[in-house]
Amino acid sequence: MFSDADVAALYDLLNPWNPDRRSDARFYFPLVMAAESVLDVGCGTGAMLKLAREHGHRGRLVGLDPDCAALDRARLRADVEWTEGAAADAGNGAGFELATMTGHAFQNLLTDDELRTSLNAIHGGLRRGGRFAFETRHPQARAWEGWTSSNPDDVVNLVDEAGRALRYWHDVDSVVGDIVTIRGTVAQPDGTVLRVLSENLRFLDVAALNAFLVKAGFEIDAQYGDWDRGPITDDSREIITIACRR
Ligand SMILES: C[S@@+](CC[C@H](N)C(=O)[O-])C[C@H]1O[C@@H](n2cnc3c(N)ncnc32)[C@H](O)[C@@H]1O
Repeated sequence: MFSDADVAALYDLLNPWNPDRRSDARFYFPLVMAAESVLDVGCGTGAMLKLAREHGHRGRLVGLDPDCAALDRARLRADVEWTEGAAADAGNGAGFELATMTGHAFQNLLTDDELRTSLNAIHGGLRRGGRFAFETRHPQARAWEGWTSSNPDDVVNLVDEAGRALRYWHDVDSVVGDIVTIRGTVAQPDGTVLRVLSENLRFLDVAALNAFLVKAGFEIDAQYGDWDRGPITDDSREIITIACRR
C-alpha cells in the first residue's frame, strides 16, 4: 500500500534540505562546501551531498546508508558516490577531510558496541586533522514528549509525489533508559493507516557522548547547544559536535 520507495519520497517531502530555510542545513552546508572530501554517514536520500554538487563542489562526495530505498533515490544523481552500508562500514584509510551525520542519524546508533564500532570506523575513515560533524538531541529537552498525535505541530497533512493526500504523525511506544521507541504512521486523511514505521533512537547526554568520542580517538573541537553556535546550556535541545582526528 505504501512502499519503501514511497517512504523515501515522503522523507524528502517532510525534510527538504534547504540552507535558506533550515538552520541545521545552514550549519552543515559551509562545512561541506569547504571540505575537499566528504563522507556523509546515514545520508538517507542524499539531499545534502546532491545540493553540494549542484552548488559546484568539485571534490569527492560519498554518501553511506543502510537503507536501499533511500539510496535508490539518492542515485538519481550519479555524480556523487553512493554506498550501501552502516556507520560501522565507514571505510578505514579512506582519508576524508570531513565526515557528517545529519538529521539526527547518529541517534540510530543504539548499543554501546554499535557506537564504539561506528565511531572507530568513522575515525578510521578520516585523514589526520579531519573532522566529524554531527548532532544528537539533548535528552534534557525530552523531545519525544512532543511526538504524539495529540500535538497539532506533530501532525502533518500533505500530498505526496503520486498525488495522494496523506497524514503523518508520531507516537512513542516506550522510553527505556536512553532508548526511545517511536512509531511514524502514514495514513489517509480519514485515518486509514497505510504504513507504520518503527524506529529506536538513543539519547546520549554530553558526558556519555564525549566518553565514546574520546575512546574512539577523537578530540572535541567544538560543541554547541543550538545551530547559531551558542553554548550548551540547561535549555539546549541539541548537542552539536565537531570532533577531530588528531
Ligand atoms: C533521519 S534519517 C537522516 C537522513 C539524512 N542524513 C538527513 O539529514 O536527512 C536517518 C538515516 O540514518 C540511517 N541509519 C540508520 N542506522 C544507521 C547506521 N547504523 N549507520 C548509518 N546510518 C544509519 C537511516 O537509514 C536513515 O537514512
